[in-house]
Amino acid sequence: MLKVEHLRIAFKMGKALSVPVRDVSFRIPEAGRVALVGESGCGKSLTALALGGLVERAEISGNFEGDADISYVFQNPMASLDPVMRAGRQILEAAPDAKAAKRDLPALLESVGLPPSTASKYPCQLSGGQQQRVMIAMALAAKPDILVADEPTTALDVTTQKEVLDLIDSVARERAMAVLFITHNLGLVARYSDYVYVMYAGKIVEEGGVPAVLSNPQHPYTKGLLDAVPRLDSPKDAPLKDIPGTVPSPLDWPTGCAFHPRCDKAMPLCSSPAFVRCPFVRGH
Ligand SMILES: Nc1ncnc2c1ncn2[C@@H]1O[C@H](COP(=O)(O)OP(=O)(O)OP(=O)(O)O)[C@@H](O)[C@H]1O
Ligand code: SF4
Ligand SMILES: [Mg+2]
Repeated sequence: MLKVEHLRIAFKMGKALSVPVRDVSFRIPEAGRVALVGESGCGKSLTALALGGLVERAEISGNFEGDADISYVFQNPMASLDPVMRAGRQILEAAPDAKAAKRDLPALLESVGLPPSTASKYPCQLSGGQQQRVMIAMALAAKPDILVADEPTTALDVTTQKEVLDLIDSVARERAMAVLFITHNLGLVARYSDYVYVMYAGKIVEEGGVPAVLSNPQHPYTKGLLDAVPRLDSPKDAPLKDIPGTVPSPLDWPTGCAFHPRCDKAMPLCSSPAFVRCPFVRGH
């Protein structure tokens, strides 16, 4: 339904050039549950925003194929909602047909687990979880083919997080709507996605069906992300394994494999300009 090839996003920063997205290719099939995973600063949000033509003042190149309406649910609902507009009106403003949307509003609110009275509330009168449900209702009111859920629950507590993700999953199934789920947590991908793209330093480093990637990750970065997921069955005093170091700056990506300064498997070729692909990843 939507295919992106060799997406590159660059910003001029004075005399320097920042290239946060360097070469990203992916597909979102009809009603597909696709995840884009990576640490903060890898270029996930920019990639998603570029799908909707929402990146400003950037040099963007790449091939886009397909025609899909896209709606977004972002991380922090309070920053996305208008604080002085009632929830119902905000939802209606997102709908292409205001009259039909007004008629359908109670049912739409119900579908996201909110009572009809929510329509008359201001955002500050709602909890974080309720605000995020309003955001989901706004996104659904536009009747998208693809819902981009960009870290939709980072601002919520763990119980509400699960409720909101379960909600997105169930409405997407009911409406045969595709979901692009953006997260840094590979643990959540197991439950909410079928196909995963792992992104590091503006590139996709590994992709595949979720069970295969989670049970047999090949790229050392994917392994690092998996090791960083807390597990219920690990001993209580076992420390969480973090990937050492941080994501480098898009103004100055390391030569060769951008992960080499952090990789415990790095070898001399990895930091060479002649580097092509990680030897641990087959078929990418
Ligand atoms: N408008 C912009 N101009 C210049 N640089 C930008 C712009 N937007 C984002 N960036 C830079 O691009 C990089 C990737 O940003 P992006 O928001 O896509 O990361 P992300 O993977 O979504 O991270 P997070 O998990 O923190 O949301 C960051 O280094 C960010 O500073
Ligand atoms: S290419 Fe080398 S440095 Fe990069 S992830 Fe693979 S082994 Fe590590
Ligand atoms: Mg982001």
